Amino acid sequence: METNDSVEIAEIEIDLLLEAIYRRYGYDFRNYSRVSLERRLLQFLNDAEYKTYSEVTGRLLRDSLFFHKLAAYFSISVTALFRDPFFYKAVQEKVVPLLRTWAHFKIWHAGCATGEEAYSMAILLNDEKLLGRAMLYATDISQPALDTAKAGVYPLDTVKQGSINYLNADGTSSLSKYYHAKYGAALLDSSLKKKITFSQHNLVIDKSFGEMQMIVCRNVLIYFNQDLQNQVLELFWDSLEYGGFLCLGDKESLMFSSVADKFITIDEKARIYKKKI
Ligand SMILES: C[S@@+](CC[C@H](N)C(=O)[O-])C[C@H]1O[C@@H](n2cnc3c(N)ncnc32)[C@H](O)[C@@H]1O
Repeated sequence: METNDSVEIAEIEIDLLLEAIYRRYGYDFRNYSRVSLERRLLQFLNDAEYKTYSEVTGRLLRDSLFFHKLAAYFSISVTALFRDPFFYKAVQEKVVPLLRTWAHFKIWHAGCATGEEAYSMAILLNDEKLLGRAMLYATDISQPALDTAKAGVYPLDTVKQGSINYLNADGTSSLSKYYHAKYGAALLDSSLKKKITFSQHNLVIDKSFGEMQMIVCRNVLIYFNQDLQNQVLELFWDSLEYGGFLCLGDKESLMFSSVADKFITIDEKARIYKKKI
């Protein structure tokens, strides 16, 4: 059984480990939601067969490969093509008519993981004959996830689930129109790829990179504590044109955030907001 002392010592060790990561590698996990972070650290400790967090800290300070292995535990890149179909339906019904009023527009997918979310948006825009006017920027903290995103090659069985999601999102054709299947994998069409710029960006420490008409950040803020969520939401507010859209998806909300009164709600369930003019 854990004693109070051992719990307190582990807490101190975790604080020191997060501080070491920040000072040595510039990744700031200090304000990530503590419960899930501790769960993942414990998993790493067991998998790597270490007894204490201090030993892990000692090694990661000197071994960057070891650090990247640990960072992969923090970066859970679960995603899917047309994940949560109702979200894309809401975008199509409530955002697309307003996007049409812009001659050109930019969309930022923050925390894009392995890229499926950005490709889904490109497909939706293509169906709406709007892709030609769009430029999509998709960013993530995880370089391995971005490498997969750039390649745009996914296992065929996950793409088949994506096809079902696409139909549930009222997709107007067949998803197979957008990929070539080969040896159990699906290679997404280059016409989609060339509209998306994938790059590494850390929402905690990096700045905004330009004015967007739409920002999509789903299933990312859940990893952050309230202060960090507010900091990132302020970054999004700064990065949006007046009248632009912030799309958070159904796991997160602007309610109780520091920017709540700077947006109006466009869709309650999909948590789509519009920056007030
Ligand atoms: C669960 S995935 C969400 C993917 C996609 N948005 C979706 O909803 O399907 C969360 C992503 O957030 C990324 N992430 C976590 N912390 C981040 C940070 N500080 N800056 C940028 N991305 C971060 C992770 O690497 C991971 O790929």
